[in-house]
Amino acid sequence: MNSQLYTIPLAESNEQPISGTLFENVYRVLGQEPVAQRFFDGQLPQHEWIDFLEQQRARLVNAGIPAGDVDFAKRYPGSVEAFVQQTYQRPEFENLLALPENWQTECYDIAKSLTEMYEHQGTTYIYPEEGYLIYTLAKAFQAKRAIFLGSYYGYWAAWAMPAIEAAGGSAVLIDPDPQCCELAERNLSRLYPDATIEVACTTAQEYLANYDHEKNGKFDFTVLDAELPNDYPDEALRGKGLYFALLDAVLPHITDPSLMVCHNILLNDETGSNAMQSMVAQNQKELTPFLKLVGEKYQFFTEILSTEGMGVGLHKHTGKLP
Ligand SMILES: C[S@@+](CC[C@H](N)C(=O)[O-])C[C@H]1O[C@@H](n2cnc3c(N)ncnc32)[C@H](O)[C@@H]1O
Repeated sequence: MNSQLYTIPLAESNEQPISGTLFENVYRVLGQEPVAQRFFDGQLPQHEWIDFLEQQRARLVNAGIPAGDVDFAKRYPGSVEAFVQQTYQRPEFENLLALPENWQTECYDIAKSLTEMYEHQGTTYIYPEEGYLIYTLAKAFQAKRAIFLGSYYGYWAAWAMPAIEAAGGSAVLIDPDPQCCELAERNLSRLYPDATIEVACTTAQEYLANYDHEKNGKFDFTVLDAELPNDYPDEALRGKGLYFALLDAVLPHITDPSLMVCHNILLNDETGSNAMQSMVAQNQKELTPFLKLVGEKYQFFTEILSTEGMGVGLHKHTGKLP
């Protein structure tokens, strides 16, 4: 079995889903299957994994996995470590972002403590390879002042915080949902009792309109994961359409250079799934204004084909990276 995943308990038959990440729930159902073990060890071609998932669809749905999320599972990378290594070989990262020493052990330790200790309220749609990536990016960039826009239960922050804390930095988490904020505070204070973390229960636009960066510092690490319902009155802000407004609000408060990590940058898909294709079409539409602004302000912005899609961008800079 893949050593990165051993702390995830397997399900008894007919057991209902646990509160946790979606990945944990899928793994609990399929993790004991030899095909799945080969896939998570990086030994099974993606198309065989996709065929296997189709065969297992009814079993997953019966175990409480939403049908649409079976299609997301087709995008799992198999070996998380191979995925991270390949990401850092991208030409955009060359001479800018290098995998930090000891990243495997450090990521493994975070994954283990989150699996064992993190309190979710339902399901969290952030995947192991996405956690590994945000931690290593924060570490590689030596992020010291981070802002999480749409911080939800704080799970992204929980992955990045050990890197930020190691650099002597601080983080601000912003979400207008009070229940999410309460849970984020509880989780983060339990996991990182000595870290400097502010949880602000408001919209990102409101917070940033009143943010004094002379006093509190500019942000060198921005994470976007806010979204609004598909029936939100302002059509332009629905779903991930909100990203344009958030980027516009944070730009006056970021350092030069500054790194941005976004969730749900799902503009390409290689699984052949119809469900994923319609997701891609929706994302391309919702994200168009955001991507135009990114094109003007960022030196690069690259889509990473993680399970839910991530975007990593470097704000235009003139000097050297830290
Ligand atoms: C549902 S989460 C994203 C899901 C995430 N990928 C996960 O782990 O499942 C999106 C969050 O954006 C928040 N949000 C909505 N509008 C916002 C705004 N204007 N500023 C900051 N956060 C916002 C919501 O309250 C919600 O907690």
